[in-house]
Amino acid sequence: MTTESQVPGADELQVSEAQIAVHWKEEQLYYPPPKFIGQANAADPAIRERFSEDKFPECFKEYADLLTWDQYWHTTLDTSNPPFWRWFVGGKLNASYNCVDRHVRTRPNQAALVFVPEPEDQETVVVTYRELYRRVNETAAMLRDFCGLKAGDRVTLHMPMVPELPVLMLACARLGVIHSQVFAGFSGAACGGRIADSQSRVLITMDGYYRNGDLLDHKVKADEAVERAKQEGQEVDKVLVYRRHSGQYSSKTPMVQGRDVFVDEVMPDYRGKLVDPVSLPAEAPLFIMYSSGTTGRPKGCQHSIGGYLAYVTGTSKYYQDIHPEDTYWCAADIGWITGHSYIVYGPLSLGTTSVVYEGVPTYPDPGRPWRIAERLGVNIFHTAPTTIRMLRKVGPTEPKKYDYHFKHMTTVGEPIEPDVWRWYYEVVGKGEAVIVDTWWQTENGGFLCSTLPGLEPMKPGSAGPGVLGIYPVIYDENGEEVPKGSGRAGNICIRNPWPGIFQTIWGDPDRFVKTYYEKYNKDPKSTDWRDWPYFSNDGATQAPDGYYRILGRVDDVINVAGHRLGTKELESASVLVEEVAEAAAVPVVDELRGRAVEMYISLKPGVTATNVEEKVAKVIETEIGKVARPKNVWIVPDMPKTRSGKIMRRVIAGISNFTDVGDITTLANPEVVEEIRSHVQSVKEARGDVPKTLTEKEAEEIKAFGQVD
Ligand code: WTA
Repeated sequence: MTTESQVPGADELQVSEAQIAVHWKEEQLYYPPPKFIGQANAADPAIRERFSEDKFPECFKEYADLLTWDQYWHTTLDTSNPPFWRWFVGGKLNASYNCVDRHVRTRPNQAALVFVPEPEDQETVVVTYRELYRRVNETAAMLRDFCGLKAGDRVTLHMPMVPELPVLMLACARLGVIHSQVFAGFSGAACGGRIADSQSRVLITMDGYYRNGDLLDHKVKADEAVERAKQEGQEVDKVLVYRRHSGQYSSKTPMVQGRDVFVDEVMPDYRGKLVDPVSLPAEAPLFIMYSSGTTGRPKGCQHSIGGYLAYVTGTSKYYQDIHPEDTYWCAADIGWITGHSYIVYGPLSLGTTSVVYEGVPTYPDPGRPWRIAERLGVNIFHTAPTTIRMLRKVGPTEPKKYDYHFKHMTTVGEPIEPDVWRWYYEVVGKGEAVIVDTWWQTENGGFLCSTLPGLEPMKPGSAGPGVLGIYPVIYDENGEEVPKGSGRAGNICIRNPWPGIFQTIWGDPDRFVKTYYEKYNKDPKSTDWRDWPYFSNDGATQAPDGYYRILGRVDDVINVAGHRLGTKELESASVLVEEVAEAAAVPVVDELRGRAVEMYISLKPGVTATNVEEKVAKVIETEIGKVARPKNVWIVPDMPKTRSGKIMRRVIAGISNFTDVGDITTLANPEVVEEIRSHVQSVKEARGDVPKTLTEKEAEEIKAFGQVD
């Protein structure tokens, strides 16, 4: 991406992100403990050889062979229609069979899922593989016979973190129905937009769920979602409502006659029913997962059955080091890709025990995660830097009080600061566990960069090298390779296709090509994969030892506590407030959540502001969800703009973060900057809301923020 020129009087000249030098201290290496190596799935260094570039794409046979195929494939990778890659062509399989049926024979009484409700006085629920088989079959029968769903149809799930969610996903997979699970924290409106985009006529939700001690009303969002979908042209004819407490309705909204049904009233009709898993082509879609990007509309990332499942199974085996006898807890939400790949599909495909926790990690106190780990014997733990930062802040010595032992821990979703990494290693992991810092995206299906836990040393703050079969490269704006050890940042790309890569953006193949491949494509006519590097939209640098350090998004995405929020989504929500003329969203460095959102608003001429700040915050909650609620909303007399009328987000981002606003002589209205700065900063100072001094890396990010397009 490009940022506004820093050169006075030259708006047209642009300085590329790739040219910004990033300096940091090299961190000390940590080596995996011998005890871990002794049992690791990947302990033989020859594995790197097996996945070397000259073995591509056949190397991925090793992942595909972890699955049970109804029909073996004949072509590993078909590149005839780039960049719409087809993996394992000719193969047929069923994802539900692979995650459920095949384990029923070998380990029927092993726990597949362990559900931990948020209230500690509610019983933990163990779902064995045999029980999972029963539930998936009955649910599939209900979806097929009661909802009339069949292979290729889409269904939207707006489910919280309860075991019914993975059961539903697997029931869909059994039929070939494409599930689109929307994060439960998202608003009804956001869900409705996704229903419309995916053309689902069935919405599946729950009446309520526990969060921070409260039983939230969730069904209310279903009514809003259906309404919004209708406005966008999609009718929903059935809303299936699970009840958090069977037989007891926890929502205030009425059930709509003829549309809404309680699942616990319908399901008895399907008791004991078995549904044959539908044998589907490897390239048939398994699910859609929406994600934010540069433009307003969320992108429906479409993932395949064969390639995706092979990739998450392989990476779960070698990078999560999952064995069937492990107890694995990934504390992400299944409403995000991490949960799809590394709570549900990867772990269950390997036949392990996967923990599903309903609520907030610090409820009712910061010892909660460690009590869960102790009680269930969790030995693999997976979470995000935001959670680690929060747990460190509120309970820095809690882990010591509990007798649990992790062999392996993961961090994902945001860059992790080296000192947070060290707390995770020393205090949470008690110095006994390996850590993998896994970098990847919704679009990717599974990990892209990480150390191999038994073979490669860890470096705090670095994701490590490309994972097996992934060959990354950093390009500058001109497509020149940024060499390792140069200290320069650039755009990290992946030179090759891999089985987990998404197939397209649902309903928008042009946008798929444009967003991810156009930038570094060498020849649009070429059917050689080497001409089609995948552009990740992340900035990175590569150390002399080859490890990548991910700097964060180079597009207009703000990563709040691991949630990807598009500035355009935030801004278009804000302008729905009648008084608002223009809106700009910027990130502010936040001690706990990584980044928080601040909104800058200018009003329509002649209007007087009454409570506009709250109206803007509210509309963002309604349109997107509470996660996106801005930390501050600032009303400004005018936005700082270039002479061609573009809002200079980096200037206001600098103000919010108390960093240098950079050169403003090219602005059409430079005088407004000081006015905004003194207002915003004096209010923040008065509130004690001044961010700590930014690290060099954070300051670079803020300086580069806000693409001028
Ligand atoms: C960021 C989550 C630094 C990155 C799996 C990416 C990371 C975005 C890391 C994708 C990491 C993810 N270190 N940054 N280990 N992992 N990111 O789609 O900016 O929700 O582009 O997928 O999170 O977020 P998404």
